[in-house]
Amino acid sequence: MAESMKGMHRTHRCTEISTADIGRTVTVMGWAARRRNLGALIFVDLRDRSGVIQLLFDENSLSKEDFDKAYGIRNEFVLAVTGVVEKRSAAVNENLKTGDIEIRVQQLRVLAEADTPPFPIEEGISTREELRLQYRYLDLRRPDMQRNLMMRSKIANLSRQFMDKEGFIEVETPMLTKSTPEGARDYLVPSRVHPGCFYALPQSPQLFKQLLMVAGYDRYFQIARCFRDEDLRADRQPDFTQMDMEFSFVNEEDVMDVNERLLAHLFKEILNIDIQLPIRRMPYREAMERFGSDKPDIRFGMELKNITELVRNCGFGVFSGAVAEGGSVRGINVKGQGHMPRKHIDALVDMAKGNGAKGLAYISVNGAEDGSHKSSFAKFMTPEEMDAIVAALDGEKGDMLFFAADKDSIVFNVLGALRLRMADELQLTRKDDFSLVWITEFPLLEWSEEENRFVAMHHPFTMPMEEDIPLLDTDPGKVRARAYDITLNGNEIGGGSIRIHQADLQEKMFEVLGFTPEQAHARFGFLLDAFKYGVPPHGGLAYGLDRVAMLMCGADSIRDVIAFPKVKDASCLMTQAPDAVDEKQLEELHIAVRNEE
Ligand code: AMO
Ligand code: AMP
Repeated sequence: MAESMKGMHRTHRCTEISTADIGRTVTVMGWAARRRNLGALIFVDLRDRSGVIQLLFDENSLSKEDFDKAYGIRNEFVLAVTGVVEKRSAAVNENLKTGDIEIRVQQLRVLAEADTPPFPIEEGISTREELRLQYRYLDLRRPDMQRNLMMRSKIANLSRQFMDKEGFIEVETPMLTKSTPEGARDYLVPSRVHPGCFYALPQSPQLFKQLLMVAGYDRYFQIARCFRDEDLRADRQPDFTQMDMEFSFVNEEDVMDVNERLLAHLFKEILNIDIQLPIRRMPYREAMERFGSDKPDIRFGMELKNITELVRNCGFGVFSGAVAEGGSVRGINVKGQGHMPRKHIDALVDMAKGNGAKGLAYISVNGAEDGSHKSSFAKFMTPEEMDAIVAALDGEKGDMLFFAADKDSIVFNVLGALRLRMADELQLTRKDDFSLVWITEFPLLEWSEEENRFVAMHHPFTMPMEEDIPLLDTDPGKVRARAYDITLNGNEIGGGSIRIHQADLQEKMFEVLGFTPEQAHARFGFLLDAFKYGVPPHGGLAYGLDRVAMLMCGADSIRDVIAFPKVKDASCLMTQAPDAVDEKQLEELHIAVRNEE
């Protein structure tokens, strides 16, 4: 039965007590984490969010009633105890903050009993994630999850304080709004008052923050919930959090400067790591050519090498054919892996195909029994050609070289992914090694085969680089944007741009994106109208807070830094959302659900 805590008042969290308190009477409250019963003595580890402290229940210094109660304590019972801090008589635990003290309990109340949890409330358990998420409130009780959420809170707080000092004003933007396209599908909310009409949940506060600049707020900041209906991955959630900001009267350097100091501040305060400023910058094209990715992990080498010119006229049709069609042939050198077994290579070929490749060619440098190169395409090449390719990749005996031949986008995709997989398999990186890079000079537009038109690579409000503006008419695919992403260890943790602030250029941009003037006005009329009334030049950036927290915590998934995340199919295993609703609710919203198989 549950007892009241009336008359008892907590004096400390468990690990706020130290040897300096020996002899003092304290009151602590928390969960029973572990118990050992030695007959006349019962030891219980009491846990709260600060950690654990050992409680000692001694038959000789406790009422019979309380000792009997102590005897009945089970894991996860909620306890309140008052007692005296003592030096531990035995079993000093060096790994514990409170390892050399214990509380000799004088008074015990059992505030709540508990069923046996479906998994141990401990650090680093190997329980299935589905079960953890179903009982998330128990999972969140585990010390590693508590540490993650506390670190996340600290990141948010430090950022808010920093931005405040830099003169940013926190403004909330609406959750029920008109769609702001960021390239994902919207979550829609039906309107009761306007039959057949829908709000969209914001994919980001983008348009509102730009309008705040029109409104003269100069510097805006918000920790904003965003919603995107897209396929989920380890680093994506349907509802996630941005640390969002916008500045007036700035260029790229100003935005980057504030953000570099913000990042340095966070890393110093939270992990005591000094970030070298300025943070390295790399144009998009260089990132793709060298790392096959616009979010390169530069903690290790294994860079891509271009062998297009070497194989332009070679006898291997896969290579020369790809070049003839305007593509390229590139490779990576996996040092010392020439002995890789056939099965392993086949798995990598399958992965390459999964990334859009038609195949993956390889050379095991001097890997044949006679000392020549062992390769999937040697028979089409002269030995001199093979040597030249090996030399181009700095191949040495025992190395494994992989090649992809296709259009650039596929070659980058395939080799970029292969590079990461090899680094993972060979454990070339460490989670506590942090490497930040700005990626700049993104293409403004990318061609969408699906929609048969150009789409904005970032969003339609991004300013083109001035010298490229004439290309908007002649070769839009070549226009570079005044956009920048901030990447950390191969993850895009944030992105932003300088915005278009001229109505005519914005209209031109909509035209290039295939909107008629009527369509542009129907969707973005309020922005185009606002641009008639004096817009300051402006720009900004938004971080994915979840991703920042994931990397700083050393977690493998953003689910581990989100209190109540969703799983791959965008459902919540704890609440069972999304769920059917009452017919009456649907009626009020003028909605009929179509019967789909
Ligand atoms: P962008 O679309 O790049 O830019 O988003 C900014 C950052 O938000 C994070 N992010 C996500 N995190 C978790 N789950 C998701 N589904 C998800 N989608 C994005 C990423 C990303 O870098 N309005 C612009 C910013 C600007 O131009 O100022 C924007 O939203 O870390
Ligand atoms: P094939 O002549 O089709 O058997 O291919 C010979 C080798 O080239 C095999 O190792 C294939 O995996 C590889 N290969 C096929 N297409 C490509 C490609 N587009 N890029 C790189 N290697 C390829």
